[in-house]
Amino acid sequence: MAKEKENELMEKVVSLCKRRGFIFQGSEIYGGLAGTFDYGDLGGELLHNIKNSWWKKFVSSRRDMYGIRAAILMNSKVWEASGHVAGFADPMVECNKCKRRFRADQLDPNLQEICPECNGTLGTPRQFNMMFKTQIGAMEDSSSTVYLRPETAQGIFSNFKNTVDAYHPKLPFGMAQIGKAFRNEITPRDFIFRCREFEQMEIEYFVREADWQKYFEYFKDQMNEWMEDIGIDMSKVHELEVAKEDLAHYSKRTVDFEFDYPFGKKELFGLAYRGNFDLTNHKLEYVDDLPAQTGEIGEKIIPHVIEPSFGVDRAFLALFLSAYTEDDSGEETRVFLKFKPKMAPILACVSPLLKNKPELVEYAEMKVFAPLKSEFGRIAYDDNGNIGKRYRKQDEIGTPWCIVVDFDTLTDDSVTIRDRDTGTQERVKVSDLSKFIKERLD
Ligand code: GAP
Repeated sequence: MAKEKENELMEKVVSLCKRRGFIFQGSEIYGGLAGTFDYGDLGGELLHNIKNSWWKKFVSSRRDMYGIRAAILMNSKVWEASGHVAGFADPMVECNKCKRRFRADQLDPNLQEICPECNGTLGTPRQFNMMFKTQIGAMEDSSSTVYLRPETAQGIFSNFKNTVDAYHPKLPFGMAQIGKAFRNEITPRDFIFRCREFEQMEIEYFVREADWQKYFEYFKDQMNEWMEDIGIDMSKVHELEVAKEDLAHYSKRTVDFEFDYPFGKKELFGLAYRGNFDLTNHKLEYVDDLPAQTGEIGEKIIPHVIEPSFGVDRAFLALFLSAYTEDDSGEETRVFLKFKPKMAPILACVSPLLKNKPELVEYAEMKVFAPLKSEFGRIAYDDNGNIGKRYRKQDEIGTPWCIVVDFDTLTDDSVTIRDRDTGTQERVKVSDLSKFIKERLD
């Protein structure tokens, strides 16, 4: 029963995302392409808000962070040095009968040899490299092989020297990137949780070896702070110390932040201590400003790395699930997304009480909507249906405030503001609207 309820919740969320234009299946008009999704207008706004908030907290508000926007296609030597060509693989089994493929480590341990789809016999597990391979240029030989990046991290490491030479940062310092990553997942599943094309927000923070634990703990706190700040339900977030035998090939220690999704407790973000694995393999070093024991020039060292890594799509899903609320106290169930105002795709919706009263329409459009739209951008205008329906529509997309221009507005220059979460209404002067919104943005 509990399982059914969880599936039901996921179905409701997927359906709301499509119906209200947050997320569509990729290539839907041709039957879709598994593991790919397209974000619509509102979904795109929410993605922007997630990424902007992350960039502000971890990069632009700090003095020790340097952004990078590296090319997705990189010389394949990068992926040889990083260990991805040899080791970025999942164990895969294929059904001898229906030919479907499965992740061996995700099968029921008691039914390892039986196909979960057709009951056929499964073959022996083999390692399947998850990088998408393509060719660059007109030649098709091994020298033209390139990979779509499976993590944004290597675009950071490969620009370590450029960044040091250009900005001369002192340790500790970090480099950050937001961008697409691609993995040929054997079984993409659970909506946007496991996709083949997704986005990451990653930091590589370079420290002296002796300091790694201090900065590991520091970034654990920073990650928790950011999740809470954007509105992820922290009662559903759990830290998992990843067992030594499960660590990625580059990691010396990893803590996963897991989230209670309707389909189970699974990874949301990760924090890894990569030692000096990447800089060593790329043959990169750093001249420290500490005087060397024997001379005056700085000592050459290979900094160690703390890596907070965030999936944008998983942040979206966790935030959406945290905000999704059903209120059964009225005659009908009211569904609303309880986004913090700063994260909501639309901040406020302006309406004239009646759309067939030109004086109300003109006031709403010219004196309320136009100035707010030019100041905040994320403002909607709606004059369809009755007011109750307009409220429901905005509730479903998480708009914190509905602003209604009525006949009193024409004489007192005040409007009614209806609050999404409580349904309460208050009168506010039109001249105070901008202040009203600004005060509630942080
Ligand atoms: N640079 C380290 C790295 O890529 P990871 O744990 O493989 O580590 C980091 O990925 C984050 O990227 C994950 O915590 C998750 O949020 C996101 N992620 C990974 N694979 C994903 C997928 N197939 N679909 C959506 N997000 C994914």
